[in-house]
Amino acid sequence: MSISRRKFIELAASFGASLAFRSAYVRASNTQWREQRDFYPQGVASGDPHSDSVILWTRRPPSKNSEAKKLIVEVADDPNFRRVVATTTATLSSETDWTTRVLAAGLKPRHVYYYRFTDEHGFGSRVGRTITAPAESDNRPVSFAFVSCQNHQMGGSNAYRRMIFEDEQKSVAEQLGFVLHLGDFVYEVVWYPEDRPQGYYGRRLRDVVRYPQGEKIRDFHIPTNLDDYRALYRGYLFDPDLQDARARWPFVCMWDNHEFSWKGWQSQQEFSGVRPAQTRKVAANQAWFEYQPARVVKSNADINSYTPPAVRDTALQEFDDHGLGLEPGNLSAINSLRIYRTLRWGRNVELILTDNRSYRSEPVMHRSEATPFQPQQFPFVLSENVVEVLDGGCEFDRGKPPDEISFNGKSVSNPRKHSAPQSMLGAAQKTWFLEKLRGSSVPWKLWGNSVGMGEWRIDFQNLPDTAAAKWPDAGYATFMDDDWSAYRYERAEVLDFLRSKQITGVVALCGDRHAFEAALISSSLPPKAYEPVIAEFVTGSISAPGLFEAAEYSLPKDHPLRPIYLYQPAAEAKAQPAVNFSIMHGVRASLALKQTGDARRALAERNPQLAPHLSFIDLGGHGYSVVRAGSDELEVEFVCIVRPLERSDRADGGPLAYRVVHRVKHWKAAPEIERTRVEGTLPLVV
Ligand SMILES: [Fe+2]
Repeated sequence: MSISRRKFIELAASFGASLAFRSAYVRASNTQWREQRDFYPQGVASGDPHSDSVILWTRRPPSKNSEAKKLIVEVADDPNFRRVVATTTATLSSETDWTTRVLAAGLKPRHVYYYRFTDEHGFGSRVGRTITAPAESDNRPVSFAFVSCQNHQMGGSNAYRRMIFEDEQKSVAEQLGFVLHLGDFVYEVVWYPEDRPQGYYGRRLRDVVRYPQGEKIRDFHIPTNLDDYRALYRGYLFDPDLQDARARWPFVCMWDNHEFSWKGWQSQQEFSGVRPAQTRKVAANQAWFEYQPARVVKSNADINSYTPPAVRDTALQEFDDHGLGLEPGNLSAINSLRIYRTLRWGRNVELILTDNRSYRSEPVMHRSEATPFQPQQFPFVLSENVVEVLDGGCEFDRGKPPDEISFNGKSVSNPRKHSAPQSMLGAAQKTWFLEKLRGSSVPWKLWGNSVGMGEWRIDFQNLPDTAAAKWPDAGYATFMDDDWSAYRYERAEVLDFLRSKQITGVVALCGDRHAFEAALISSSLPPKAYEPVIAEFVTGSISAPGLFEAAEYSLPKDHPLRPIYLYQPAAEAKAQPAVNFSIMHGVRASLALKQTGDARRALAERNPQLAPHLSFIDLGGHGYSVVRAGSDELEVEFVCIVRPLERSDRADGGPLAYRVVHRVKHWKAAPEIERTRVEGTLPLVV
């Protein structure tokens, strides 16, 4: 056996796959493949390509009249399987919900392959297409898409349809090499349509999943065990556009919160208070392992299976200095599947993926001690000053935290004065991450970072005295309570590390915010120092509603702050996202927009301190983003589609709202973002 073949056998076993190794000679297929897609109801997929290998995936459950025990897998150079280059047999079992993983290896770099599965009766899956990564010496540009937040209950996957349509028009050299999915691949919080007949905002609720067990909380349902989490993936993967996308490109997936639990952290859930959920975290991990082909590290090494650790739902009492709960079941649950990892594309791109949910400390702004600091009357926001003090704990202001925090005319005792700062990554992952950044030799270190870093602020302190609402302190408002803009102490630690080691070319690619955003990231903003260290691009959601839509449906017509969030050019006209304008230019600019109806003129009132870091923001956009990375520059294209209320019947997935391209050149001192192309009309982005 050759060394490389043995290496691949070990590798395949380590992440639960069988091996299909390239054979010495190429031949035509001799299977009796007859396509029978309904026997493979979740389609086919591939994941985590290397330059010589990729993982292939399908699910073949028993059906009424046909049960299969094993599948023949074929990998070919052509879609007709006249030139089959690798083949093997994969087993099927209820242990993995009839899913199977195969490592196709010994492949050529930057090469398009086709694959299919055939059961012992000749019933075949659809044909999948996958692409290996370029060799490490390959200097040609790399293109890929990144996406997040597909809520199938609430909208169509028109973004995938457009992605496929546009890719088919391109030359092979320009086509996407893979799709990076930054999480919220599924939404575990499910409204059964009958429980909410009025729908959600203006959207119809689809009957995507019914949990076999499930737990009902208020008017929604959440999964409770492995059967429930599996049902969630099975339901989502019925989506025809998602299936087509998974059959066209390899996916590289990182989970975000909803793969486990909405406000979850480590193995804990939060529904009106924290409750232990070690057993559910294990179930969520197992279902993710079964449905996402990825190069992950499990606690067991046997082929094609995940052995769930025995855990009990136990409250966390003791924590390390990064807020990690030391309860053995918590540690077993979160360590049962390690998915933070790196992947390499050619000479120019390394992708470093972090897990921002499994090791994080409990979000401080969700804790009861943060309750006195909730601004009344100001929707969706918190005080930036309060977030900074509570996040930093005993380390705030270089170890000089205040005894009291002044808020809303009162002095409130600082509940976090003696507590450790928050951590997003946990100590072990942070060490790994910083070492990867330091050790990487490529120009572009792309950080697959499920949650965003860039501040979204509003200067509510600058509201005119005549305003009906009064902002409770002298500083800015900030929007996010549980992403990097609320885990500021550790964000600064990462940025300081990059600056001190003179590491450049780090670009964060983010999801979670249900918005498009291009920004430079500095650990502080005016009136404090503004020193950008990295660039960040956040992609709009595939379908989950964003903050502009939430404001449209939740802010009453007579709300005193309505013009800060919504611009209504005429009584009958559709509202526009004034919130984009407010975050870029400030409240006085948005009030002037309401007065004048002229965005350019309203800029005379802008606050230049507010957002020097932001190049683009749209809290109402859906779609996907495309990265093109060459050796010297990197472009990110936001492809925004109209709100995907229903599945489009058009080949292109329905109309484009706009397309905007930003460019970052490789930098020595500080990054800069430049807008290079716009198609369509940008929504109050001036
Ligand atoms: Fe999301």
